[in-house]
Amino acid sequence: MAELRGAEKRRYVADLFSRISGRYDLMNDLMTLGMHRRWKRQTAKLAAQGLRGPAIDVSTGTGDLALELARRPGMEHTVGLDLLRDMVARAESKAASRGLSASVTMMTGDALSLPFADNSFACATAGFSLRNMPDVEQALSEMVRVVRPTGRVVILELSPMSPGLRSALFRPVFHNLAPLIGRLVAGDRSAYSYLPRSVDHFLEAGRLAEMLSGLGLEEVAYRRLGFGTVAVHWGVKPGQSGHGRR
Ligand SMILES: C[S@@+](CC[C@H](N)C(=O)[O-])C[C@H]1O[C@@H](n2cnc3c(N)ncnc32)[C@H](O)[C@@H]1O
Repeated sequence: MAELRGAEKRRYVADLFSRISGRYDLMNDLMTLGMHRRWKRQTAKLAAQGLRGPAIDVSTGTGDLALELARRPGMEHTVGLDLLRDMVARAESKAASRGLSASVTMMTGDALSLPFADNSFACATAGFSLRNMPDVEQALSEMVRVVRPTGRVVILELSPMSPGLRSALFRPVFHNLAPLIGRLVAGDRSAYSYLPRSVDHFLEAGRLAEMLSGLGLEEVAYRRLGFGTVAVHWGVKPGQSGHGRR
């Protein structure tokens, strides 16, 4: 469940995404009215802007964000990494169907222990996945570790809404509609009951920005998207002797 931690959460999340992987893309389109595509495009643009070199998308799922990164100018090769073999297979087919197989490597791996040396990538992204991590800070610190100095870390994530009228209207709809669509379309009510609860348990956008700064990133900022339901955060890894993009 949303409040689980450690190995128990990892198992729960792996089981949940294995069950829904076949309907994952369709559910994303339905739940966001297709807006997740634009958000991912914006995230990739923010991540790659002005940089040159390899990119990584952590917890890539069916690969959307990795493929957006692969299309950005300056991105020489993109890695899409996910815990689940089934998600990786779907991401590989998507890359092939878009003629991008040569520009991306989709692979299995754990976000909490990335199989790459320090300073390997020009930028790192994670989309809609931090909430599912057994240890959010460890996942972020791995992204920071593998990004090279002056590189960028960018996080696209659902965000708990600030209290107010919009939240009072939106929250009950989200908590009731997501499980209903989940049952009707993915045949899995419980997976989509977890979704709104996992947002409630996640860091508020300001706290996530503080965590990124605490991990040493500079120029940390965020922008809200989707009527405040989503936030994109970014930060720059300090250069060894000041900044200066390659
Ligand atoms: C909600 S999906 C997001 C997929 C994709 N990034 C997107 O934006 O559509 C979460 C993904 O995180 C993956 N995941 C969960 N825990 C992980 C971990 N510890 N390491 C790598 N991937 C993980 C799941 O397998 C799933 O594909």
